[in-house]
Amino acid sequence: MILVRVLAIESSCDESAAAVLDDRAGLLAHELFSQIELHRAHGGVVPELASRDHVRRLLPLVRQALTHSRTSAEELAGVAYTAGPGLIGALLTGAALARSLAYAWRVPAIGVHHLEGHLLAPLLEPDPPPFPHLALLVSGGHTMLIEVTAVGAYRLLGQTRDDAAGEAFDKSAKLLGLPYPGGPQLAELAGHGTADAVRLPRPMLDRAGLEFSFSGLKTAVLHAARDQAPDAQRRADLARAVQEAIVETLTAKALRALDYTGLDVLVVSGGVGANLALRERLTAAVGQRGGRVYYPRLEFCTDNAAMIAVAGLARLSAGQYDGLAIEARAQWPLESLPPLVAH
Ligand SMILES: Nc1ncnc2c1ncn2[C@@H]1O[C@H](COP(=O)(O)OP(=O)(O)OP(=O)(O)O)[C@@H](O)[C@H]1O
Ligand SMILES: [Mg+2]
Repeated sequence: MILVRVLAIESSCDESAAAVLDDRAGLLAHELFSQIELHRAHGGVVPELASRDHVRRLLPLVRQALTHSRTSAEELAGVAYTAGPGLIGALLTGAALARSLAYAWRVPAIGVHHLEGHLLAPLLEPDPPPFPHLALLVSGGHTMLIEVTAVGAYRLLGQTRDDAAGEAFDKSAKLLGLPYPGGPQLAELAGHGTADAVRLPRPMLDRAGLEFSFSGLKTAVLHAARDQAPDAQRRADLARAVQEAIVETLTAKALRALDYTGLDVLVVSGGVGANLALRERLTAAVGQRGGRVYYPRLEFCTDNAAMIAVAGLARLSAGQYDGLAIEARAQWPLESLPPLVAH
């Protein structure tokens, strides 16, 4: 019995992370350092600062992951890393480290697609989703509906034409004076808002198809906040209206995609999947149709290395890994991934 164990590194944006995953024993360690404090003063991620901080953080996180999982270099079958999409400088710090470690340890390096990581994060749960399923990937940079027939078999059904759902949360939060990253803060403030006190548009909901558009939402928030200097209650009402508009739109389109594909299993991943109002609404709506929704645990909705390890292990097991070049891609269409056919 050959055990396959991988080390994984994530550095695509503002989280530095390392994890160790074993195909039999499961997730043995996952370490993460969030750069939120570093970027807060600037109101958003500053790419150069992110890269420099990854350089400082990654190696200690790798050491911690190896120590906590009691793993020696000889026990590793490969080093997975996020190769894209993401901030190119940030990606290159992880790519260079992973590639160098793999070279020194004489094991393959596996360049992982970040979105495949998000899509496979729910596989880390004790009750993982079955295949085929529909995935709603809602992160800071992406909003996508994807038909997932198997690990590695992804068909993009629809995506946002402009802002991602997470971006809509973050930009609206900024307009309401909330600190970066606004999504979770806006969700918290929405809890104090009155339902239907403010109504914001639901872009493209009335149109057929599975595409999204969220950029109009921030403009609507801007106007609503300008018309009337918002007091505390008005800000909470606006936050509630933003959350409501995003949740209703995502739910309606996810249901539409379930109808379209004939699937009854929905998987939600990416940072916005941590939003409790969205979870509640989707679980109820899909449950009513006799289907079921699966989520990663909250900490694996946002960026982490555990999900990169899942995708890395799957690719390595199928004999897919990279050469000696240090490779990273800022843009990388999910559909261009090779199918995963196990050896
Ligand atoms: N509870 C929440 N409610 C709403 N939004 C949330 C919540 N928690 C996190 N988010 C949002 O999730 C996003 C971060 O998610 P994630 O880490 O998956 O994105 P990313 O890695 O920056 O983007 P991508 O994966 O597309 O490159 C942010 O926009 C953040 O505001
Ligand atoms: Mg991400």
